This record gives sequence, structure tokens and C-alpha cells, in this order.
Amino acid sequence: MDSGISIRAMTIDDYPQVYALWAATAGLTLGGADSRASIGKVLARNEGFSFVAERNGREIVGALLCGHDGRRGCLYHLAVAADCRRAGLGRALVAASLASLKDAGIERCHLFVNLDNPAGASFWRQAGFTVQGDVEFYAR
Ligand SMILES: CC(C)(COP(=O)(O)OP(=O)(O)OC[C@H]1O[C@@H](n2cnc3c(N)ncnc32)[C@H](O)[C@@H]1OP(=O)(O)O)[C@@H](O)C(=O)NCCC(=O)NCCS
Repeated sequence: MDSGISIRAMTIDDYPQVYALWAATAGLTLGGADSRASIGKVLARNEGFSFVAERNGREIVGALLCGHDGRRGCLYHLAVAADCRRAGLGRALVAASLASLKDAGIERCHLFVNLDNPAGASFWRQAGFTVQGDVEFYAR
């Protein structure tokens, strides 16, 4: 990994940069649940599970939102800036969240990938995640 880039826990003060990164990233779907207030609630309820990659101590170039319900973890909105990809940042962000989940006694973790995002799917497969072909995703 680039020595000028470090991984640290996300705080709500990171929101403007994190949201800008997400909004600039193809493959992610944002909605009302991604407002500052909503992300603030996620971080408050799940302190220390979400991470950012920061360049030179000021520029956020990667982000991953993570929470759990006490028995399963869930990962959302993994994004790495286009000029920082294929350098292990995505892998490092996922490892940080999975380590925090493990410390909380949570070994299993879910996530969603848009069907039109094969590169994202390749990333998750190499990270050891498998497609659950026997379920449908329902929402209301
Ligand atoms: C997916 C994403 C987060 C990967 O971040 P990254 O920092 O480039 O990933 P890493 O460097 O840690 O890659 C680890 C491994 O994942 C796989 N991988 C990463 N990007 C890939 C791509 N575009 N196509 C195929 N495989 C890929 C490779 O096996 C890679 O290892 P290698 O570089 O040694 O071959 C980044 O491409 C991104 O932000 N994409 C847009 C948003 C997105 O799709 N998010 C995930 C879906 S929810």
C-alpha cells in the first residue's frame, strides 16, 4: 500500500468527503438512507466498524460502511478513488471491518452487489465472499 495512505475508523466529520467519494463512484447506489443524519446514526450505533483510507492525513480516498445487528455483520458502499485502485486499499478496508466484527464475536457478514457491477463482484469473490444463489432480496 502507498506509504502516504493509512486506514482509520470513520467518523461523522468525514461525511462530506466520504459522500463525495461515494457519489463519484460508479457501481454504488445512494439514496435517502445516505444522508448525513442517517450515516451518523449508523456510526453511532456501530462505533469502530466503518473505515476510511486517508491520503497524507487529509484526503479520503477509500471508504467502507459496516454495521451489525449482534449476530451478522453487513458491509455497504465500499469505494476506492479511481486513481488509488489495485493497490490493496479495498482489501485493507474490508480486513479492518472484518477484524472489528470478529472482535465483537461476529464471524458472518453480508453485502449487496449490483448485478451490473461484475468488477465489484470479482473483488468480493477474491475476498472470500460467495454468492448466495438460493435467496431473493426483498425490501419495503
Ligand atoms: C471494488 C473496489 C472497491 C476495489 O478496490 P481496490 O482498492 O482497487 O481493490 P484491491 O486493490 O484491494 O483489490 C484486491 C483484489 O480484488 C480483485 N479486484 C479488484 N478490482 C478488480 C476489478 N476491477 N476487476 C476484477 N478484479 C478486481 C483483484 O483480485 C485484486 O487483486 P490484484 O490487484 O492483486 O489482482 C474499487 O474498484 C471500487 O471502488 N469500485 C467501484 C465501487 C464498487 O464496485 N464497490 C464494490 C461493490 S459494493
